[in-house]
Amino acid sequence: MIDIVQDLDALRARVAGWKREGLRVGLVPTMGNLHPGHYALVEALKPHVDRIVASVFVNPTQFGPNEDFDRYPRTPEADARGLDAAGCDLLWLPSVETMYPLGVARTVTVRVPGITSILDGAHRPGHFDGVATVVARLFNQVQPDVAAFGRKDYQQVAVIRHLVADLAFPVRILPVAISREADGLARSSRNQYLDAEARARAPALYRALTSLRDALQAGQSAAAAETGAVEALRAVGFEVDYVEVRAPDLAPYAGGDGVALVAARLGRTRLIDNLEFSSGAGDAAG
Ligand code: PAJ
Repeated sequence: MIDIVQDLDALRARVAGWKREGLRVGLVPTMGNLHPGHYALVEALKPHVDRIVASVFVNPTQFGPNEDFDRYPRTPEADARGLDAAGCDLLWLPSVETMYPLGVARTVTVRVPGITSILDGAHRPGHFDGVATVVARLFNQVQPDVAAFGRKDYQQVAVIRHLVADLAFPVRILPVAISREADGLARSSRNQYLDAEARARAPALYRALTSLRDALQAGQSAAAAETGAVEALRAVGFEVDYVEVRAPDLAPYAGGDGVALVAARLGRTRLIDNLEFSSGAGDAAG
């Protein structure tokens, strides 16, 4: 059975032992309530490392005051069984006190500028500060050689890359493809908030992205394609936070390769998704 560790000294001792043996260590940071999208991160790490640590920590500093921190699903026993079956070696399960020993109010905060003020950063003030703050701690606690992050959270990957480059963390970032349900809905712990009726509407999110990409590739402008996606989503009952086409590095889109990103709400449930595409309308002139 997988080793479940809640004490920082015990974690350090385990990882130090592996490193003395020359083993490479991978990390999968999560907030738990694990699904096949999370287990795909474990799988993706296997060719690159010898031991895999998964962390499960519902991070209070990345939730806004009116967000779902209290009701976020917590399923540690099922997560431990699933990680064991996935071939993970250690589950790092810190308490809030272990993660924030001086208390959340006195925590050292890591703030990544620029990229965090657009898209989800604009709609969830402080969210990415909380993500960068907890991921910096996880890297210091676990000291992985490689850490896996899902492309489902496209902007999060960009924030982590910026964090790692700027603070010189000796960690390689491994981005992993989005895992989807058969009907296209990106897997997410928040999908279980959806009742049957909302769940039936939810795949419209992915359909809106594929239609947007097709429209771009057929020569429509990014602005028109974004408007089309917003209208399609509103028609099935979504409240749309944003639909935006961006360059792969999230700079403003100027044609060529890109990524379409969406955040929209069905009732109280906020879903995000994105679709990367290669050269569309912008370079169709030739
Ligand atoms: P969480 O939402 O639990 O996601 C953990 C990791 O799983 C993230 O890297 C996320 O992108 C990835 N993931 C989730 N659903 C996925 C899917 N359908 N396909 C591919 N990857 C998927 O993201 C977080 O937690 C937190 O912000 C965290 C990084 C742990 C910091 O607290």
